[in-house]
Amino acid sequence: MEYRTFGTTDFQVSPMGLGCLRMSEPREGADDGESIAAMHMAFDLGINFLDTSANYGQGHNHELIARALKGRREDVIVHTKSGSPRTPDASGSRSGSSPDYLTRVCEESLRRLEIETLDIFCMSRVDPNVPIEESVGAMARLVEQGKTRYISLSEAGAGSIQRANKVHPVVSLQMEYSLWSRDPESGNIQACRDHGMGFMAYSPLGRGFLAGQFRVLDELEEGDARLNSPRFQPENFQQNLRLLAQLESLAQEKSATLAQLALAWLMAQGNDIIPIPGAKSRNHLEENVKAIDIQLTKDDLARLDKIMPPGAAAGMRLNDAQLARVNI
Ligand SMILES: NC(=O)c1ccc[n+]([C@@H]2O[C@H](COP(=O)([O-])OP(=O)(O)OC[C@H]3O[C@@H](n4cnc5c(N)ncnc54)[C@H](OP(=O)(O)O)[C@@H]3O)[C@@H](O)[C@H]2O)c1
Repeated sequence: MEYRTFGTTDFQVSPMGLGCLRMSEPREGADDGESIAAMHMAFDLGINFLDTSANYGQGHNHELIARALKGRREDVIVHTKSGSPRTPDASGSRSGSSPDYLTRVCEESLRRLEIETLDIFCMSRVDPNVPIEESVGAMARLVEQGKTRYISLSEAGAGSIQRANKVHPVVSLQMEYSLWSRDPESGNIQACRDHGMGFMAYSPLGRGFLAGQFRVLDELEEGDARLNSPRFQPENFQQNLRLLAQLESLAQEKSATLAQLALAWLMAQGNDIIPIPGAKSRNHLEENVKAIDIQLTKDDLARLDKIMPPGAAAGMRLNDAQLARVNI
């Protein structure tokens, strides 16, 4: 596997990471043993980059990763996000950008992950009511105190990236990016390149849709957060299935699965783009890692662009409340 330097860090990371969100959400039906086996399989296959958040499973995800890291800590780089305080009725999230919150959650993450220093600590969302200089200033103090090696941002706009870097080097941006979510192409990726930052593409499989995981909405369990997404509303879902059918033909020609095609497309966008597909089982994990060996030609990329140009998907990538909190 060809490793690459991640942003301005001294970490050598695999071309793909592993997103751990769905190993802890929803909690019902989670299979911790299988999740740990999937992480171990990832490490054995050379994947050395995990993504998590203090919010995932309200701390469960960190505790799960702590178990998976036993005896493997030196082999793995953990990117962990701050999350945001959630309202008791889970109706929404509130600012996780205050210096107090960031400091507290960093310490809690260290305790739950059972490690002495975080590799990369990421602020999940920029809060327009908290100057980014204050948030990043607090994160810089965590670096000085040895609580994290590096800091990063998620869903930040180009202006915030620039302001943040004036306070302290930000090593990467995490943002939704996939065949059907092309927003980062409108300035965020360029802002990262201007600052030598890495880019972590989250939800690279369109939350499972681009992997063909769901063909009918009934396959999603009641309470699944995807049911609140515009793209998973009945009419949009049907339209998006028509796009998926076209992707499927190309995937078959390439002897690839849909998931592999979606991941290979992302990795073809540049060495600095690291997709972090979520996979909580070994079979999905193994399939996804094989995408690293798939080479897409210029012609393949042009065809993919024709099938799914920016804006092709029916429905926005997030609902209105979520959209109000991103790309700030
Ligand atoms: N910064 C942020 O705000 C933010 C937001 C969302 C996510 N993230 C990060 O990004 C990671 C990935 O995002 P995501 O989980 O939302 O979406 P995703 O990676 O696009 O899709 C994950 C879904 O695809 C399924 N899947 C994976 N491989 C598959 C395969 N080969 N065939 C069929 N289905 C497959 C998974 O099923 P199984 O789980 O059953 O394997 C899961 O339901 C998360 O784990 C998290 O670390 C960050």
